[in-house]
Amino acid sequence: MKIQQIQLTDYRNYTKQSLALGTGLNFILGLNGEGKTNFLESIYVLGLSKSYRSEDVDLIRFQSDFTKIKASISMKDNLQEMSIIISEIGKKVLVNNQEIKRLSDYVGFLNVVLFAPEDLNLVKGSPVGRRYFFDIVLGQVDKTYLKDLSDFKYVLKQRNELLKQMQFHPSKDETLLDVITEQLALSMDKIIQAREKFIANISKRASGNYQFLTTKNESFTLTYLPSISGNVLQSLKSRYKTDIQSGTTNYGPHRDDFDFIVADKSAKGHASQGEQRLIILAIDLALIDYIFDQKNDKPIFLLDDVLSELDTEKQNRLLNYLLSTGGQAIITATGVLEINQDILKQSKVFRVVKGYIKEDLKHGQ
Ligand SMILES: Nc1ncnc2c1ncn2[C@@H]1O[C@H](COP(=O)(O)OP(=O)(O)O)[C@@H](O)[C@H]1O
Ligand SMILES: [Mg+2]
Repeated sequence: MKIQQIQLTDYRNYTKQSLALGTGLNFILGLNGEGKTNFLESIYVLGLSKSYRSEDVDLIRFQSDFTKIKASISMKDNLQEMSIIISEIGKKVLVNNQEIKRLSDYVGFLNVVLFAPEDLNLVKGSPVGRRYFFDIVLGQVDKTYLKDLSDFKYVLKQRNELLKQMQFHPSKDETLLDVITEQLALSMDKIIQAREKFIANISKRASGNYQFLTTKNESFTLTYLPSISGNVLQSLKSRYKTDIQSGTTNYGPHRDDFDFIVADKSAKGHASQGEQRLIILAIDLALIDYIFDQKNDKPIFLLDDVLSELDTEKQNRLLNYLLSTGGQAIITATGVLEINQDILKQSKVFRVVKGYIKEDLKHGQ
């Protein structure tokens, strides 16, 4: 899929912006605080219906009532128009001028993979971030997963409410807990199986990408660490006592984790900043291929501030690889100096100043 044209109205520091993007690499150059990340974020919001870094209302330009993002996108052979309108009272999403009532029917129509500087916390940060990161991609391509996840959260909430009651009003009768636990176990099974399959698939792809990016022969695997393994129902039942005492469900997909293993060691403990960046990039490239396999159309790759911290050789490897895949990528950087001239010549280059983007015809294609 490729965004041909995008229009922003009162989005963050953009008042009115219309931009025709190139089909391959697009560079958005500008100094700090001019609006580079905001622009990338708007494409993410268009695809996923919410931001990865703030609440809906923060996306509306200061002193405005609403914001609108609209784009025409070529998907396989068709041209589709998507828009999202966000106001203080809610949001509305449209495809080809038809409102889509349920966000879950809308998300996944436009696929994006984002590399954000915040993602560097994924390797060493808390499991919550890792679960969110992988759920976003899986949810984009697998509607059943999205639904199973929402069912799971619903039943989990019910079970936790019951556990809280039982914590303060102990009773011998566990009939209701049995019923909810059986329901929850079914739900958990689905999530665990989907995650297992997905992570194994991504790991295989990411392993080759990591070696390609690092030019080292170090092995890389992504592993899934489910909080419950084996028979889920039995596990839950054997932990009634702890769950009642703490008034919450202590085991399950909401406590799952993932690990990044480089040369047989967990990267959590020892990966340098640079290595963490390459790990995330290797995974992002794997996600792109995975989405392509599932949808038969390449997602849009958004890369925020990725270049400055990569050495020239790795930068060129990454950019040349992206050029060769033919997918659309939008990449932010502070200036042209840090980017290889040959690559720039095959790309579209834009400059952003104070929330206004203009094409830089001197450097680009
Ligand atoms: N809702 C908003 N309305 C107007 N300006 C905003 C809004 N949200 C953020 N900004 C402004 O956007 C600027 C940051 O833009 P950003 O895209 O993060 O810059 P960078 O080019 O460094 O990535 C800041 O000056 C900030 O004040
Ligand atoms: Mg930025």
